[in-house]
Amino acid sequence: MGKEINTIGVLTSGGDAPGMNAAIRAVVRKAISNGKKVKGIRKGYSGLLDEEIIDLSAQDVSNTIERGGTILFTARCREFRTEEGQKRGAEICRKHGIDGIVVIGGDGSFKGAQKLASLGINTIGVPGTIDLDISCTEYTIGFDTAVNTAMEAIDKVRDTSTSHERCSIIEVMGRNAGYIALWCGIANGAEDILLPEMFDYDEQKLIDHLINNRRKGKKHHIIINAEGVGHSASMARRIEAATGVETRATILGHMQRGGSPTCKDRVYASMMGAMAADLLCEGKTNRVVGYQNGRFQDFDINEALEMDKGIDMYQYEIARALSVH
Ligand code: ADP
Ligand code: F6P
Repeated sequence: MGKEINTIGVLTSGGDAPGMNAAIRAVVRKAISNGKKVKGIRKGYSGLLDEEIIDLSAQDVSNTIERGGTILFTARCREFRTEEGQKRGAEICRKHGIDGIVVIGGDGSFKGAQKLASLGINTIGVPGTIDLDISCTEYTIGFDTAVNTAMEAIDKVRDTSTSHERCSIIEVMGRNAGYIALWCGIANGAEDILLPEMFDYDEQKLIDHLINNRRKGKKHHIIINAEGVGHSASMARRIEAATGVETRATILGHMQRGGSPTCKDRVYASMMGAMAADLLCEGKTNRVVGYQNGRFQDFDINEALEMDKGIDMYQYEIARALSVH
């Protein structure tokens, strides 16, 4: 049994994701139902260092489960990457009576949580990122909403692209992670999917594919480009010049990070937030909540950060096979 926890802090860090509010709400209400006090830390580690710390009651999180963004705001904080910043963060936690923190964010944020844990502040990570790029979990908060937002937008682009018999390059988010691109590739029936994990960008292949499809009489050609692979507008210019097919680029951008969370994001985020509060109350630290094989489970943060999450090659092969007719 670890140290006794009286006050739990909660923060959101890194890129925001729809469903983060559901997770915050669950941390607050589950911790309070376990007899603990809760403090909200605004603007991630940056707000911790600036002591932007507020008391949170069960009522303070009313009317938040359906809202996109994060009521605690989020930030990226350079200072917290330094040993000095981390030590100051741990001191500030002690000053405010915070014995344990729930960190809702991606793997960068978990590295910060790992450091706080080593300095004696109990920490539990909750995976909050639209990228689905955390290796110990098959689910991250916000992916479901983001991928549905992107899918609906791509359907709309496809309508006009077909009417004009154009090629469309649609850029989705994921500088280092191709899951949004891969899922939309399947869900939207894209002709080509470009993923940062594949390191196989070959423009001539795209050009040949488009020319072949035109010969077969295909009226549209959708290329889904994960942000990390290349500059969509210049790709479009070069492809149009090489094929004579009018080619346009659409960048979906930050719309993918906003909006009211889907049912799945609300429910899974609630489960994960509540479980994080319970784990802290049990005295656990340096753990991260994940979802694997149909179960919510906790993992050691160090081990979780060492695991590698590549693209599921079978899923990728299926995406390619299903786009051919
Ligand atoms: P995400 O959590 O979505 O992966 P980032 O990688 O931007 O987002 O990380 C969010 C924040 O976590 C950073 O701005 C920084 O404050 C903190 N962080 C990232 N890496 C480390 C690290 N190695 N050590 C301590 N803190 C870190
Ligand atoms: O990690 C979430 C994410 O939206 C990535 O998909 C994207 O590459 C990055 O954040 C964009 O970050 P920013 O907030 O700096 O635009």
